[in-house]
Amino acid sequence: MKKCVLVSGGAGFIGSHVTVELIESGYDVIVADNLSNSDLTCFEGVKKITGKEDIPFYKMDFCDEKATDDLFATNKIDAVIHFAGFKAVGESVAEPLKYYRNNLESFINVIESARRHGCRNILFSSSATVYGEPEKLPVTEESPRQSATSPYGNTKQMCEDILRDSVSAYSEIRGIALRYFNPVGAHPSALIGELPRGVPNNLVPFITQTAIGIRECLSVFGNDYPTPDGSCQRDFIDIVDLAKAHVCAVRRMIEDKMKKEYEIFNIGTGTPLSVMELITGFEKANNLKLNYKFAPRRPGDVVAIWADPTLAEKELGWKAERPIEETLASAWAWE
Ligand code: UD1
Repeated sequence: MKKCVLVSGGAGFIGSHVTVELIESGYDVIVADNLSNSDLTCFEGVKKITGKEDIPFYKMDFCDEKATDDLFATNKIDAVIHFAGFKAVGESVAEPLKYYRNNLESFINVIESARRHGCRNILFSSSATVYGEPEKLPVTEESPRQSATSPYGNTKQMCEDILRDSVSAYSEIRGIALRYFNPVGAHPSALIGELPRGVPNNLVPFITQTAIGIRECLSVFGNDYPTPDGSCQRDFIDIVDLAKAHVCAVRRMIEDKMKKEYEIFNIGTGTPLSVMELITGFEKANNLKLNYKFAPRRPGDVVAIWADPTLAEKELGWKAERPIEETLASAWAWE
């Protein structure tokens, strides 16, 4: 019997790539999304890539307790991956209650219904943002979490805690939190990718929109940081590699291989790249010139962060593989 995975927020950037990898690894997938920050473009792309026309899709909001419970009641779900949530850092500062209500309530409903209907395995999409400005680099899963610099970051920490406390109280469920570094790129088919609404906040969508002429000029936020070239350093992780980590984590849960009821893994490459290195890499990979200028530092940015991905390799058998040139070419092909 094929195992069934529910992907909440499955029409979005990460969710759509994860859906593809799950289907290609032999899982049945149910996609649910309220389309508040996405449309059906990527879902249609997922069907084309996988050749599977009958992927169940529910347009629903996980803040709706009854709809969430009905979904779990009417489907036999072996694992749920929870992506559904708001993710704009700046907006979360302006509208914190919107973020707390949406991101916490939806996850609580998912856990509650999973528990009630015998879905043991819960995977939460967390973020390296929980580490704040790290004292030591690279960060391991043991590195201390720092107080979040935004309500968005706070919801990631709080959801981790909600999952940790729930699995410790309710023996019928278990959980994994994956802490992503900076997911970038697109599927090699160029049928799915990142679709930011309005002006992109994140670096790579801003780069591709500048290259294609939607934006006039890219601002590099800060060139006076205490880093080798003065710009911030990040761990840019390819979206397909990142998606594959979810398959490994789901398999670990479903096959009863977890060592504790709650586990955390960093999902990154382990290699830092500066904003300037990324820009140069993009220009080289795609043989073009980007219009950019230096601008003041962006409030709330951490100077440098990258992962120690050793634990994910040891326990999940996963590591990043796609070369950054390919990742940056895929981002451009998608744009
Ligand atoms: C941000 C969020 C992170 C979230 C991630 C989602 C924080 C502090 N950061 O990460 O939680 O999970 O997005 O992808 O909560 N940059 C420019 N010009 C631009 C845009 C970005 O120079 O136009 C720089 C930024 O200053 C930063 C780097 O590029 O140094 C990466 O920025 P971004 O893509 O927004 O990711 P993060 O801020 O690292």
